[in-house]
Amino acid sequence: MEKIVIEGGRKLVGEVTIGGAKNAALAILPATILAGDLCRIENVPEISDVTMIFHILKQLGAEVKLIKPGSYEINTKNIVWQEISHELTRHLRGSYYFVGAMLGRFGRARVAMPGGCDFGARPIDLHIRGFEALGADATIEANAMVDARADSLQGSLIYMDLVSVGATANIILASVLAEGTTTIENAAREPHIVDLANFLIQCGADIRGAGTDVIKIHGVKSLHGCDYSVIPDQIEAGTYMVAAAATSGKVVLKNVIYKHLESIAAKLRDCGAEIIENEDGSVVVEGSAALCSCKVKTLPHPGFPTDMQPQITALLSVADGTSIISETVYDNRFRYVEQLSRMGADISVNGKIAVVVGVERLMGAPIKAVDLRAGAAMLIAGLMAEGVTEIEDIEHIDRGYEDVVKKLSRLGANIKRVNFPEPNTIPSAV
Ligand code: UD1
Repeated sequence: MEKIVIEGGRKLVGEVTIGGAKNAALAILPATILAGDLCRIENVPEISDVTMIFHILKQLGAEVKLIKPGSYEINTKNIVWQEISHELTRHLRGSYYFVGAMLGRFGRARVAMPGGCDFGARPIDLHIRGFEALGADATIEANAMVDARADSLQGSLIYMDLVSVGATANIILASVLAEGTTTIENAAREPHIVDLANFLIQCGADIRGAGTDVIKIHGVKSLHGCDYSVIPDQIEAGTYMVAAAATSGKVVLKNVIYKHLESIAAKLRDCGAEIIENEDGSVVVEGSAALCSCKVKTLPHPGFPTDMQPQITALLSVADGTSIISETVYDNRFRYVEQLSRMGADISVNGKIAVVVGVERLMGAPIKAVDLRAGAAMLIAGLMAEGVTEIEDIEHIDRGYEDVVKKLSRLGANIKRVNFPEPNTIPSAV
């Protein structure tokens, strides 16, 4: 097993290049199934969630060839229908995109319920209702298999009760080859929805309105392969922005789309940081010595992303004054607060609201990454803290951050990965 060890107190200074967007890649890679052809995809992040998606694609019979780091040739011509087991889906949320993609291509999908981070109940009822609206019989069986089948898929008007990234993307996947027009109302507007739509459009799909709350998909007879480059990761970029501000450092972020970072930049400015977009598209974040408290409310895009909530909370734990964090997307996304408390943070949680009273400093401690973005918050806390922080359960961090130790080291952090024995392998004292 490995853990990350950080000796805190250093400012992050320098340049960091952001990788491809995890949540875009997790939708685009299964979407290659619909192309049934050769796709060349660049800017694919080197993270364990992507490794798992490739593993599933290969199990289905896709040929996957690494051209150079981050660039792959994927040929899905010869894939054959088969069910996708719990073993393959249990580690990641994005595995639910195989339902839409297999249903769209073969008229049948049988995929085990997705895994992913534990933020309380994460139902997929909106996905199921979307597939049903397209004419499929879709159920979640008692053994947690999602079964969806249709003789033919028919375009339909689908109104989403609440904004769901996964359901919006899954309905797009299932409807690009359907007959007629599908209209998704109250659709998610996240950058990765737009990226998925752009990829499918390159493959010959007819999709209008992605990035707005009404998306229209006119079904086409077939798709073909294409060359595509995944957008940069909004949340990886946001995490380095917060880390720069939290350490009073100065970091230049390359390979970013500033428009996707505006809500994060706005909050960091409230906290006292300076953020500038350079003419070449890179973004500079300069933290101030004195961080100020602020109010944060997570919302679907273009609001402040829930996937940045733990990171900003870590920063606010040492900001001057009291901050209020309202989590409106998930029921239970403050499980990591207990870990920050071990480092001396003063945070009280009441349901979906956290009240953060800024303390002078955090102290290094042994802590755990309880989920992916919680892990990012622990990294930021460790970078700010006095003394040594040891983070366990870092496999959560590896799901979504490529080369995080290398990237932070290059920015001047004192950080390393170390092997440590599992409890039952520690020799007992003689
Ligand atoms: C995706 C992202 C995740 C991010 C989230 C919100 C991927 C792989 N994951 O997750 O990183 O935190 O968007 O930006 O892209 N809901 C239902 N029924 C449904 C679907 C969702 O009630 O059928 C609820 C969820 O429980 C949650 C809210 O809707 O409270 C939003 O969830 P959703 O946008 O669907 O998130 P995910 O697609 O799971």
